Amino acid sequence: MAAASSLTHPPLGFGLGLRTDHYESILAGPRRVDWFEIISENYMVPGGKPLHFLDRVRAEYPLVMHGVSLSIGSTDPLNRDYLRDLKILAERVQPAWISDHLCWGGVAGKNLHDLLPLPYNRETLEHVAERVQQVQDFLGRRLLLENVSSYLTYKRSEMSEWEFLREVSERADCLILLDVNNIYVSSVNHGFNPIDYLEGIPAARVQQFHLAGHRNLETHIIDTHDEPIVDPVWNLYREAVRRFGPVSTMIERDDNIPPYEELLTELDHARAIAREVLSPDAKAREGRNGCSIAAPSKAGARRGASVAAARLPSE
Ligand SMILES: [Fe+2]
Repeated sequence: MAAASSLTHPPLGFGLGLRTDHYESILAGPRRVDWFEIISENYMVPGGKPLHFLDRVRAEYPLVMHGVSLSIGSTDPLNRDYLRDLKILAERVQPAWISDHLCWGGVAGKNLHDLLPLPYNRETLEHVAERVQQVQDFLGRRLLLENVSSYLTYKRSEMSEWEFLREVSERADCLILLDVNNIYVSSVNHGFNPIDYLEGIPAARVQQFHLAGHRNLETHIIDTHDEPIVDPVWNLYREAVRRFGPVSTMIERDDNIPPYEELLTELDHARAIAREVLSPDAKAREGRNGCSIAAPSKAGARRGASVAAARLPSE
């Protein structure tokens, strides 16, 4: 379990991604979300409707900024124009924190419009850590880096993704946005145990969780963010809360956007899981029984296997 940490900001509770479809519902109230996450690039504009609604939501809720264009792992120079616009937006929003992805998204000036995994080796580690420090110096705050879902690995990787993320975070002194769905998706696609991932992450640096839905294509999983969260991801979330404590949690829904009420119900499920895991009764049971969990596999994906197949004392 995570101890109180001087590295992370106080938890915000349970949030949602701010989506245009929901502007009116959000502002009509009542307030059932603790905070919202914005996609930074959607608001890096000179004016108009997005900024109008952003200011109105910000007047009532804490916000965090989540970027998709930093391309921290690319060998191209950092985009100074992008960073300048990000900083201007941060001055307007006053976000609780700013995040982006541990990935690369293009090279030689070409944007591939994807969040691609990196080769996890010493050379990349030094490159990424140096760039994170540059970004943090420019923004004047710690950055959160998020683990991406992936469908490929590199022959030149020398360590696991979680070892790489841990080393980057410690070397650059940055924070971590742990996407629980991405861990699950990659664990099935690459055949690792998601619990090993959780156990390899430094608890003191975990500032935020992402939850999302995906598409199970039998042979592999695609991270689509267009479906409700599935039980194996909820069960991995349960394990994440058990390990990291009351971390700020939000649901990412980027396509096939449902009515606001539907996401509120899904968010209530996250609240219920965290409440149950963190209750004194649950901790007492955990102390008596311990906990173990099985690794999912590609075969498991075909069967729709649940991470919860293991012996969870709270079930
Ligand atoms: Fe995410």
